[in-house]
Amino acid sequence: MHTHVNPIIDQVAAPTPSDFEQYPETYRRHYWPKVEGYREATKDVFPVIEQVSLLISKHLDMHVTKTLAKDASAYQSLEEMIKTSQMATARSFYYRERTLQDDAKKPSFNFHYDRMNLSCCLKDFYYQRGVEMEQPEGAGLVYNMKDRSHYNLRMDEGDIGFHIGMSYHILSAGIFKAHAHAVYLPNRDGLSRASQAFFFSPSPQTLIMPPRPMQDLASSMPEDEGVVPKHIGLGNWAPNMRYTDWNEAIVRGFKKVFFNE
Ligand SMILES: [Fe+2]
Repeated sequence: MHTHVNPIIDQVAAPTPSDFEQYPETYRRHYWPKVEGYREATKDVFPVIEQVSLLISKHLDMHVTKTLAKDASAYQSLEEMIKTSQMATARSFYYRERTLQDDAKKPSFNFHYDRMNLSCCLKDFYYQRGVEMEQPEGAGLVYNMKDRSHYNLRMDEGDIGFHIGMSYHILSAGIFKAHAHAVYLPNRDGLSRASQAFFFSPSPQTLIMPPRPMQDLASSMPEDEGVVPKHIGLGNWAPNMRYTDWNEAIVRGFKKVFFNE
């Protein structure tokens, strides 16, 4: 289960009714979960998340601009995109209780790349039959490392983590690479997880175009072992595609693979 809200404006308005029909994922209704205090807490914490993301993006911009050298004029500043995009969202995810009948090796959410520019996460919550507990060994976000080993993310209260998505991978000409990740929950009877994430996407009209030609985009992704949506994302991308067209195609692909819809 997940809910999806825009903490700044709650709803991104479609320019026309036909845009609303054509791009249901981009302009879908946002929901606040019915959890006491959630809305207030999200609105309180979001400006902090946004400030940190702007600070990071300024440094990413400087590095990319320097690396691109003569091609830098075609680069779209990440800081500017984050400042002007209506597409910042907060999402609360809940991963249901595991049962001993579940396939122990199967991740709760398989390896994938996020499609946004930046994804941000905070410390997870874990529950044993609804009672809060410490993060169990091997539970939570897992990253694919270059040597194919798995890195298990552990965050403390007050930590803010960011990773790069496919949009910024392309928009930075692969100078900053998207990072594959999955969610694991050990097969412990009654174990569940709740997490809070924030996503910074480009505006619907942003052209997803690298500032210099990229040879073989798929292989520029660093870790492809077991990552199905890599092909969903990149297979649907074409040069000069608007974010909203790409977003719709990716979400349809995700739903097919993960939720059989
Ligand atoms: Fe993700």
